[in-house]
Amino acid sequence: MNKQSLRSNDLKQITVSAPGKLMLLGEHAVVYGRPCIVTAVGQRMKATVELLEKPLFQLNAPDVQITDYKKPMDQLGIGDIPKGAKFVEIAVKNYFISQSTSEVKKMRLHLGGVNVTTTSEFSSQFGFGSSSASTVCIVKALSELTRTKLDNRAIFDLAYKTVLDIQGKGSGFDVAAAVFGGTLYFVIGGKIIKPLRINNLPLIVGYSGIKFDTVRLIDEVAEKAKKYPSVVDNIYDQIARLVDLAQKAILKSDFIALGELMNFNEGYLATLGVEGKKLAGMIYAAREAGANGAKLSGAGIGDCMIAIASEDKKQAVEDGITAAGGEVIDFKTNVEGVKIE
Ligand code: PMV
Repeated sequence: MNKQSLRSNDLKQITVSAPGKLMLLGEHAVVYGRPCIVTAVGQRMKATVELLEKPLFQLNAPDVQITDYKKPMDQLGIGDIPKGAKFVEIAVKNYFISQSTSEVKKMRLHLGGVNVTTTSEFSSQFGFGSSSASTVCIVKALSELTRTKLDNRAIFDLAYKTVLDIQGKGSGFDVAAAVFGGTLYFVIGGKIIKPLRINNLPLIVGYSGIKFDTVRLIDEVAEKAKKYPSVVDNIYDQIARLVDLAQKAILKSDFIALGELMNFNEGYLATLGVEGKKLAGMIYAAREAGANGAKLSGAGIGDCMIAIASEDKKQAVEDGITAAGGEVIDFKTNVEGVKIE
């Protein structure tokens, strides 16, 4: 679809895509005001959004087992919402509450509705942030269709609000990766969203096959912080320092230093109790096979670990991760943010 047709007055349907994310360093501490570094990954979430003449919200999201989900527009956000439909439904609701172009007003008067289909290039199991990416897709698509033309910052704010409405907590790093793409130095709520201009990042990713609830892990770490405030606060400060050093290492493509800093970071995450046996096995296997460094990525216990390794060690590291029971996932990092397809 070209830009010209997008500007035409009768645009009723659009497809947008947004990338998934991988936390490189700084998880957990980022929830408490310290910085983190996140990269956008090549597998994308896609959403096709169509404006309807009837006041109905319709959703098909086969990747999360949602087929032909329907409800009246005035019921958005009300009643039992299936897990796989929550982020899209609340994003649509928040969009219409917050905007006021004539198209949006028409919807609010229940003279129109929205039909959404989402598809994903990655499994929602990997923890690559499919919920946040689909939230960002919806906000971007509606902004184009109803000609509010929100900029990326406004898309971030609305999508982050949606995630908080549903999860109650979270830094928004995943939302930032989906909106802005690339590799970002990020502070909670988007207080800082700084792109790190880099060419490549020789990352290897291993999936643990374990699913664990992010909010539960945030709560468990919060419990520890409550019991040992000065200890945990110190850990967060140390993580903040190593994230700042890692930022410099990334900008210089100093992947030896980056690997060492990843190992430091893993030590602190293990101290916080979020390492988990399976991830630990994969991380140690990667290091033994010659990785410069390895750590978990995200909330911990499950989802993925990451390793950084030189080209000549790549195969050995991948084999090590596989031998430790992980599944190596191949994808690009540092990719483009939300875009019209
Ligand atoms: O589990 P994930 O991949 O969503 O990562 C969570 C990272 C935390 O720092 C623990 C939470 C957050 O929102 O930053």
